[in-house]
Amino acid sequence: MICENIGINASGHLTFSGLDSIDLAKKHGTPLYLLDEDRIRDRCRLYKNTMQECLGGDSRPLYAGKAACFKRMYEIMREEGLSVDLVSPGEIHTAMKAGYPMENAFFHGNNKTDGDIAYAIDCGVGCFVADGEQELDAANRIAGEKGVCQNMLLRLTPGIDPHTYDAVATGKVDSKFGSAIETGQAEAFLKHALSLPNLKVIGYHCHVGSQVFDEDGTVYQDAADIMLAFTKEMLDKYGVQPKYLNLGGGYGVRYTDRDPQIDIAANIRALAVFVKEKAESLGLVCPSVLLEPGRSIVADAGMTLYTAGTVKRIPGYKNYVSVDGGMTDNPRYALYGSKYTIYIANKATAEANFRCDVVGRCCESGDIIQPAVLLPEPERGDIIAVCTTGAYNYAMASNYNRIPRPPVVMLSQGNDYVAVRRETYDDLMKNDI
Ligand code: LLP
Repeated sequence: MICENIGINASGHLTFSGLDSIDLAKKHGTPLYLLDEDRIRDRCRLYKNTMQECLGGDSRPLYAGKAACFKRMYEIMREEGLSVDLVSPGEIHTAMKAGYPMENAFFHGNNKTDGDIAYAIDCGVGCFVADGEQELDAANRIAGEKGVCQNMLLRLTPGIDPHTYDAVATGKVDSKFGSAIETGQAEAFLKHALSLPNLKVIGYHCHVGSQVFDEDGTVYQDAADIMLAFTKEMLDKYGVQPKYLNLGGGYGVRYTDRDPQIDIAANIRALAVFVKEKAESLGLVCPSVLLEPGRSIVADAGMTLYTAGTVKRIPGYKNYVSVDGGMTDNPRYALYGSKYTIYIANKATAEANFRCDVVGRCCESGDIIQPAVLLPEPERGDIIAVCTTGAYNYAMASNYNRIPRPPVVMLSQGNDYVAVRRETYDDLMKNDI
């Protein structure tokens, strides 16, 4: 099985977080997002404890809410004492409604509008991650109008290629995010920030990319190397000693058994040794390190269940199995060619030798969940399980073809409960006038 929270029970059914997936499909209907709350909490603790142990100070993970954003997630983050990274007023609003303590929130975005900035300040967001000088001016003006001094991290681009797919590689110099160190713009960004009375620079940020397999530790250590060298230069020139070094998110997860398993704790430990040694060699007080994991907290805590419909065989060509969802609940193959592991949940012990494309119900050929998968002989009514869908699936779902979004059902200690209910047809029309 692709993840240790997946098993097979005596009825030959796939289990997830110890629960029978067929029972869950019957109870909640399909398509259905399942999320293993126990695993999410384990991941939060792993990051939090490891960072505290080996980096100390105020080092901590911020959960990147963009990976899976709904009220219950922020309640879990609140309960786990995790800080969060939020990217829009909508995410801020969701966290607020969950009673999330906003002083632990960091507000990201490459194009925060004046309205976004005002809203985040009104909500008491602890820190902004500023993307450029124009944002600083707007934030300074709005903070001044509101009589507050807003904490800021400055987002920099260290010029690192994380060897992932282009849409999620963000740390390169030509990125739309942040200010590049190489071009001198990062220094100008800092100088400008220091001149603004209603902003307080408390650190630097970078994010190299997402779904990064940093097996030898070079990607994050290279980023830290460049960021700390910049820190030292700025300390010497302007006397700025930042409290935080935020190295972003991005640790990769296993979608198929060809992907490596990242040992997150070992990776963080190695990073900690590197950061401390580097800081010491530069004569810097070691900043507290922040990381922004999204995918690696929720991805393999997720599974999507569908009901198989039409099975189409085109002799000499290929086979299709159509499911009752598709690119509306999981656009990742359509967007990035992402890989997935798929099982027939009610035939979990059967031999998988039927090659087919698993496709959705939308009216376009690109609506593919995964091409060329091997499944047991499929039939209409089978329950199809797509694994590792906890990150960037519900979060990126749409209503294309007027298809309602599936519910999110949480699994915790052998129980299941609905965290986000299934959209109704009336929900689809609620803004139609
Ligand atoms: N921090 C920043 C500034 C980010 O831009 C991101 C992701 C993260 C943290 C979290 O990265 P993670 O740990 O989840 O890899 N929709 C794409 C992924 C986009 C990632 C965008 N930024 C996908 O489905 O693969």
